[in-house]
This record gives sequence, C-alpha cells and structure tokens, in this order.
Amino acid sequence: VGRTLLVTGGTGLLGRRLVRQAAERGWAVLAPTRHQLDLLRPGTVVDLVAAARPAAVIHTAYAKASQDDLDRVVVAGTEAVARAAAAAGARLVHLSSDTVFSGALPDDGDGPRPWREDDPTDAISAYGRAKDQAERRVLAAVPGATVVRTSLLLGDPDDPGPQELLARDPAATHWADCHRQPCSAADLATALLDLLDLLDLADQDGDRDGGRVAGPLHLAGADVVDRATLAELIAGGPVRRTSSPPGIPLDTRLDLTRARDLLPRMPRGIRSLLPG
Ligand SMILES: NC(=O)c1ccc[n+]([C@@H]2O[C@H](COP(=O)([O-])OP(=O)(O)OC[C@H]3O[C@@H](n4cnc5c(N)ncnc54)[C@H](OP(=O)(O)O)[C@@H]3O)[C@@H](O)[C@H]2O)c1
Repeated sequence: VGRTLLVTGGTGLLGRRLVRQAAERGWAVLAPTRHQLDLLRPGTVVDLVAAARPAAVIHTAYAKASQDDLDRVVVAGTEAVARAAAAAGARLVHLSSDTVFSGALPDDGDGPRPWREDDPTDAISAYGRAKDQAERRVLAAVPGATVVRTSLLLGDPDDPGPQELLARDPAATHWADCHRQPCSAADLATALLDLLDLLDLADQDGDRDGGRVAGPLHLAGADVVDRATLAELIAGGPVRRTSSPPGIPLDTRLDLTRARDLLPRMPRGIRSLLPG
C-alpha cells in the first residue's frame, strides 16, 4: 500500500473521482465521512489528521447554502484543515474558485486579458469572498500549499453533476452573459494527482516547500463559453437564455500558462469534451 492521501469531500462531484483515481494510482486513500471529519466541528479535523498522518491532503469539501456555511465551512473549516495539515507535515492542495475574481477582466492597456495567479483578487459574490478568505487562511497556515482555482465542473454520463442536471431541466434559464471555463471533474482529478506526483519529486529534491507548485494555480478547461452555450452543448439543443442577476462575476477566464508549464496534461476544454 502506498502513502496516505486524505481527500475531504470524498462524496462530492470532484471528491468521488479523486478517491477512485488516487486508489488506482497506488495511494492509500482516506475519505472520511461527515461524521468522521466535519468542518463545522474543527476538533474532528484535528483528531482525524493527527491520527492518520497523511502524506498529502486534497481539500475539496465545501458548502455554500448560507452565509453561515460560507463563514463556518468554507473559511473556518478550511483553516482547520490547513492547520491540521501543517501540524502533520502533509502536503496540501486546496480547491478554490475562479469567483475570487470580479469578472471585469484586467486590462494593462492592450485590451482585456485572462486573470493571472498574481492578479489581486476582487470577488463580488459572497461565495467568491469566502473562497478568497479561505485561500488566505490556507497560505498563512501552509505557505507551500497549492491553491487550485478552477471553474465549472462537469460529471460524466453515468454520474452527471449539477451543470448537466440544470442543462436538461426544461424549466431552467441559462445566463448568456456569464463566461466560464468548464472542465470535467474527472480530468481535474487527474491533473490534481499529477500535481501530487510533482510534489513528490519536489520532496525528493529536498524542496520541502514545493517551490514551483506553491501558491495559487489556475487549472480549468481551455475553452471559454457562456453558460447558455455550455447548457446547449450539454443538452444537445437550444435552451432558454437570459441575463445574469447583479452580483454574478461575468468573466472569470483564467490564464492557464502556469499550469501548462507545470503539468504533463491539462483538463480538456469543453469544445473537446462536448464537440456539439
Ligand atoms: N462544482 C463546481 O462547479 C466548482 C467550481 C469551482 C470550484 N469548485 C470547488 O471545488 C471543490 C469541490 O466541489 P464539488 O462540486 O466537488 O463539491 P460537492 O459535489 O458539492 O461536494 C461537497 C463535499 O463537501 C462535503 N461537505 C459539505 N459540508 C461539509 C462539512 N461540514 N464537513 C465535511 N464535509 C462537508 C460534502 O459531504 P456530504 O456528502 O456529506 O454532504 C461533499 O462531499 C469545492 O471546494 C468548490 O469550491 C467547484
């Protein structure tokens, strides 16, 4: 049995794929139930990580149904995971979101460009602000952590995610003015595990901080689409289009250069996944 990988949110859309793929790749995977690791009860996080002493932690768990969820699960719960990982000396990969950016693309004078990792964050939604706070708590506790900002995630035909369910709901309307960079959760899981392999290499080089992999990392599909077009690609036909309400980031396209330079393979873009 290989080294231990702790996956938080192992029952989730991304977590399920991570758990399956990590086991196939030789990790001893620990995917605790909510009873065993509850982000609302930081003591459970501390106890579980201290007992398991994982070599690596991928933190995917989150909840966003209320401001209380954002404060206690996303921000405080994530901080508890980061502190526990630091105490155990575990590598930490934290899942964050493109919504840490406002959606008004940066412009250095040559026209709008995608968001780079070193651009200042400027979230406009409560969720984006909470994920931004969580990132800061992670990097304060574990400076060598990798904070992976991703975009909309899709499931698979036999295990669809929320985007697929929404696209196939005839009553749903879809925002035509909101641009994202979707990828499949399975492809993202593969890239995250490839990232852990790089961290292993960094360890062997005596580079305990992970150097090149520390800090924010933009990792999403290559193709930018509006959410109505995404729904049409999934549904295979026209959907009901509308505009997004105020407070939704309109264009969070991410510059993927850093991930492309680091990783052996990138998540496929939506035009390759669902050619239409
Ligand atoms: N999905 C997207 O489109 C998207 C886009 C950008 C970024 N992300 C980020 O990617 C990550 C994974 O997203 P996902 O779509 O895979 O999530 P998901 O399917 O909604 O799964 C959430 C997971 O978190 C767990 N969880 C919720 N509250 C918890 C608590 N109090 N204690 C412990 N575990 C708790 C859930 O466990 P239960 O099964 O027990 O409820 C579930 O396993 C998140 O950090 C998210 O911010 C996702």
